[in-house]
Amino acid sequence: MSALQRPEPRPGVLDIKAYVPGKSSAPGVAKVFKLSSNETPLGASPKAIEAFRAVATHLEDYPDGSATELREAIGRAFGLDPARIVCGAGSDDLLNLLARAYLKDGDEAVHTTHGFLVYPIATLGAGAEPVVAAEKNHTADVDAMIAAVTPKTRIVFLANPNNPTGTYLPFDEVKRLHKALPADVLLVLDAAYAEYVRANDYEAGIELVATADNVVMCRTFSKIHGLAALRLGWMYGPAHIVDAVNRIRGPFNVSAPAIAAGAAAIADTAHQDYAREHNTRWLAWLTEEIGRLGLEVTPSVANFLLIHFPQEPGRTAKEADAFLTSRGIVVRQVSAYHLPDALRCSVGTEEANRLVVKTLAEFLGKRA
Ligand SMILES: Cc1ncc(COP(=O)(O)O)c(C=O)c1O
Repeated sequence: MSALQRPEPRPGVLDIKAYVPGKSSAPGVAKVFKLSSNETPLGASPKAIEAFRAVATHLEDYPDGSATELREAIGRAFGLDPARIVCGAGSDDLLNLLARAYLKDGDEAVHTTHGFLVYPIATLGAGAEPVVAAEKNHTADVDAMIAAVTPKTRIVFLANPNNPTGTYLPFDEVKRLHKALPADVLLVLDAAYAEYVRANDYEAGIELVATADNVVMCRTFSKIHGLAALRLGWMYGPAHIVDAVNRIRGPFNVSAPAIAAGAAAIADTAHQDYAREHNTRWLAWLTEEIGRLGLEVTPSVANFLLIHFPQEPGRTAKEADAFLTSRGIVVRQVSAYHLPDALRCSVGTEEANRLVVKTLAEFLGKRA
């Protein structure tokens, strides 16, 4: 072996732009409001925290590799067969497992222009090619997605609602997309923000999974359940897909504290209602108040908003981000999502939300 030889990752891996998480600090500012990662401002259910603590006395034991208690709790909450649920270390884990199980070198996976960044990362990591379908008005466009499908397509990823745009597709549109896909193409419905959606024409995917052989739905405990630190997600799918994913996942991919806290969180519907109501109220308020400042806000059904800034020097998204950070408000730049003139801001506590509007008004030289 020559001195220049060394192990090389598979083709595609070095094409990946590593995921950059939202910032979490604002140097030199005493009080920081982190609105950059769409976490809940209300924390986890006290019952989930209690369940998490109870596990602390048994950290020497491996967790239940099948996460049975958690799958049963999810099954009870949604009326689903626990045998058709797989849990993962965040839904990121599941998205990557699906890519690994269903993509090989030379295959293609479709996602949309402003779709969640984990899709191209998981696709390239599995040796396949990400194919981008154009969006319309910052919303997935079913016709463009269908047109992007080729004989090489094996997966179509749809975040519904999408991050970072906050827009969604009505169930009729999702069904139209599914109907147009060949039976051997897997439709992954990523419903990380489903709990926040208040729209009569929305369906997270349970109905479609129940009736189709090529659809899975991914969900997370990181958002409304406030368990992002534990890394916990779940997927509901047809038995044959559950079987494939179970064969390649880590045998203990979900920790014991995550299993215990997740089971308690999913049963605490009062905490979920409280978080949903807080979000509904402040999402509408922020949309209205920021719009009133003259900034365009993409209508969102999730727990964050996409705020668009002019390109005029002194008023750009980049400058707004620096100004907000200097006041302790940490939001998300979304250039990596092809949105260089926008910032994504999570719905926070009342104090944080009021400060966002006041600070943006100051930035624009207006009065809130
Ligand atoms: C659309 C979407 N899917 C999946 C995830 C990943 O969530 P998790 O924390 O469960 O890995 C996120 C997180 O931001 C997201 O926005």
